[in-house]
Amino acid sequence: MCGIVGYIGPKEAVPVLFEGLSRLEYRGYDSAGVAFLEEGGLKVLKKEGKLSALGEKLNGCSFCARVGIGHTRWATHGRPSDENAHPHVDCGGRLAVVHNGIIENYLSLKEWLQAEGHVFRSQTDTEVLPHLIEHYYNGDLVGAVLKAVSRLEGSFAIAVISSREPDRIVAVRQDSPLVVGLGEGENFLASDIPALLKHTRRVYILDDGEVAVLEPDRVRVMDRSGREVGKEARLVNWKADQAEKGGYDHFMLKEIYEQPKALRDTLSGRISADGTRVVLDEVSLTPEEIRTLKRIYITACGTAYHAGLVGKYILERLVRLPVEVDIASEFRYRHPIIEPGTLVMVISQSGETADTLAALREARRQGARVIAVTNVVGSSVSREADDVIYTWAGPEIAVASTKAYTTQLVAMYLFALYLAAERKTAEPGQIRELLLGLKKLADKAQSILDNTVEIKDFAGEFATCKDLFFIGRGLDYAVALEGSLKLKEISYIHAEAYAAGELKHGTLALIEEKVPVVALATQVSLFDKMIGNIQEVNARGASVLALAMQGLKEVEKVAGKVVYIPETNPVLAPVLTVIPLQLLAYHTAVARGCDVDKPRNLAKSVTVE
Ligand code: F6R
Repeated sequence: MCGIVGYIGPKEAVPVLFEGLSRLEYRGYDSAGVAFLEEGGLKVLKKEGKLSALGEKLNGCSFCARVGIGHTRWATHGRPSDENAHPHVDCGGRLAVVHNGIIENYLSLKEWLQAEGHVFRSQTDTEVLPHLIEHYYNGDLVGAVLKAVSRLEGSFAIAVISSREPDRIVAVRQDSPLVVGLGEGENFLASDIPALLKHTRRVYILDDGEVAVLEPDRVRVMDRSGREVGKEARLVNWKADQAEKGGYDHFMLKEIYEQPKALRDTLSGRISADGTRVVLDEVSLTPEEIRTLKRIYITACGTAYHAGLVGKYILERLVRLPVEVDIASEFRYRHPIIEPGTLVMVISQSGETADTLAALREARRQGARVIAVTNVVGSSVSREADDVIYTWAGPEIAVASTKAYTTQLVAMYLFALYLAAERKTAEPGQIRELLLGLKKLADKAQSILDNTVEIKDFAGEFATCKDLFFIGRGLDYAVALEGSLKLKEISYIHAEAYAAGELKHGTLALIEEKVPVVALATQVSLFDKMIGNIQEVNARGASVLALAMQGLKEVEKVAGKVVYIPETNPVLAPVLTVIPLQLLAYHTAVARGCDVDKPRNLAKSVTVE
């Protein structure tokens, strides 16, 4: 949410900044801007709208800046507009600031600064920062930034440049991600790793409260009292081309198609050579701790929350422990009961989602053991949890999450089987069978991706509808929720998911002639019941598209359209079932002319609560 970039070095800064912003546009796209230092002083160019609007503004201009910062915005305070776009400047027009996060006490600071004579030009919370820094500046930019941020409440990642100290960028991180890219004679700054990959894979991942001072030949990292901290560079193993579209029309489609590889990578090295055991060396729970577990909470947001719902089914089934799944923004406010033997799992693709981080912190504050499932090495979640199970999906750029979800499911299966073996709640034969099934998922996912003609046709039909329902039972219900979220967020069609057995308790009233219903019927043990539920909507005139497991031919008698997923153990089916639903959402959105990778009002990695 909001992307920040910075560059200092021998190259022409503006194209480097612009290119970096293009890699971060998924973090916000309602306005964008750059600030840079030239002979004549500080220059700022910003524009409402997508990054391309800023690109048009930059086109034809010539620049000779060697230092600059840039920003792509997801509006929180102040509507999207040129004035509210970042960077924001002080009254003297000498320093510029970009910011990601929310400054909670900005109103009182603004009133005070206005009383001091500062004139504000925007409605943003961010604008207090350049004025505060201006207020404290007396020849030392780092000192002024430190004083200014000490007045702030809330979350922020900021970058500052000043024409009075043109040889540096000052950056501060507090509860919003910030990464420094280390080059040769040049250095980079970004709120997310993909923006750096073209230039370097050596990074400093800043911790909360850290301040980085970037100069062409060195980067100093200090704490908020100005004391230097020894920072270890990390080598990122993502490659630059992983953050590019690679011939696909959209990142989302590319990421859907990357799922077989992502599934293989996430399983790699985690199943013993003889196929009997899960190897999760990254989890440091002792056998005694596993045996004395009493309860598991899973907390996450959006798609990751839906992965948690599948996690609940599997953990309860295989590990026989009570599992509660909470939306992260609710978890910490509902006073969860955390006692000895409580394990909290947080799931987050980005590892930076503010709600999830807050839930993690609350859980730890109350003494819970926390295990994170995340896709980003070095992310806040990964650093603050006791143990981390990484999903190896590679960078996920599209706002709508796809490969992160299926790899999160794999992580949940592995963890459940790992616990089940230790607690002896599953037979060795059952564990072996599920591990074998897991290994086969990548090929089966590929076979779905190789045959998408029908799904595209169905999407064409959905493109004109106003409302749509997803129904399912058991694990299929959990997947239906994800299918419905995917469709709404990128196609803007109103979609709802219901437990199929619950329809008759109210929602059935909404089903009328030609209303499309996507019925998930992959769970063999619930199949007959599900057929009954499909009959119920049929009787009211619904137009049913069923998703069933290969072999469950009976479904053709009740559904006009059927998509089959390859046969697998029903427990593992969600990994496959979701793929046609992702494709359905994608092709429906394309047919409606929606901007698939940048759905309205949304942004990736939501770093505000
Ligand atoms: C939906 C989607 C979001 C995220 C949610 C959590 O397609 O992507 O619902 O799943 O914002 O994000 P992470 O997993 O980064 O914590």
